[in-house]
Amino acid sequence: MGFHTFDSDRAHVLEDEARYRYCSCEELYALVAPHEEMVLADLGSGTGFFTDDFAPHVATTYAVDVQEAMHAHYREKGVPESVELVEADVSALPFADDELDAAFSTMTYHEFASDESLTELARVVRPGGRLVTVDWSADGPGEEGPAPDERYDLGHAVSSLADHGFEIARAESRTETFVCVARR
Ligand SMILES: C[S@@+](CC[C@H](N)C(=O)[O-])C[C@H]1O[C@@H](n2cnc3c(N)ncnc32)[C@H](O)[C@@H]1O
Repeated sequence: MGFHTFDSDRAHVLEDEARYRYCSCEELYALVAPHEEMVLADLGSGTGFFTDDFAPHVATTYAVDVQEAMHAHYREKGVPESVELVEADVSALPFADDELDAAFSTMTYHEFASDESLTELARVVRPGGRLVTVDWSADGPGEEGPAPDERYDLGHAVSSLADHGFEIARAESRTETFVCVARR
C-alpha cells in the first residue's frame, strides 16, 4: 500500500506548468521513447497533464486513475482522441497480459506502490517494455510535493521493481525527485 491519495479538490494544482521544473515534458519523452504504434499507460494520470504530452506521439494512451473525479477534470479540459480514460487501481488493471508497450507514472509511485500493483505491472507490460517512474524522493528536502515521510526513495523503487522481475536500465536520485527506468 502506498501513502495517501491526492485530493481531487486540488486537481487545479496539477495543471501548473511550473511543475515541469521537476519533470519536464522533454525529459519524460526521452525516458519513455514513444513511437506512433505504441500502446502506453499513464499510471495515476490525474488531470492528464503529462498524458497530453504523449497523445500526439503514440497510437493509444490509457489514462489510468482510481478517482473518477480526476477523469471528470480531464474531460472538462478536453481529452485527446488517442487517449482512453480508464478508472482503475494500478493493483487491478483491466488490460490483457503483455498489452502495454510501455507505462509511466509521474509523482504517483508513492501512492500506488504495493506488491499487488507491481505484480500487476509485471503482468501487463510486455517483455522488453519500459516502465518509467518519476516521483518525489524521500531523500529530498520536501520544499514541494508531499512530506518526505510520505515518499519512497530511489532504493525502494529499484529493489521493488527488481523483485517483480524488472531489469533496471537507469536509476537516478536528484534534489527533490528520483527517476527509474525499468524493463520488463
Ligand atoms: C499526485 S497526482 C499526479 C497526477 C499525474 N501523474 C501528474 O503528474 O500530473 C496522483 C494521481 O494518482 C492517482 N492514484 C493514486 N493511487 C492510485 C492507484 N492505486 N491507482 C490508480 N491511480 C491512483 C490519484 O487519484 C491522482 O490522480
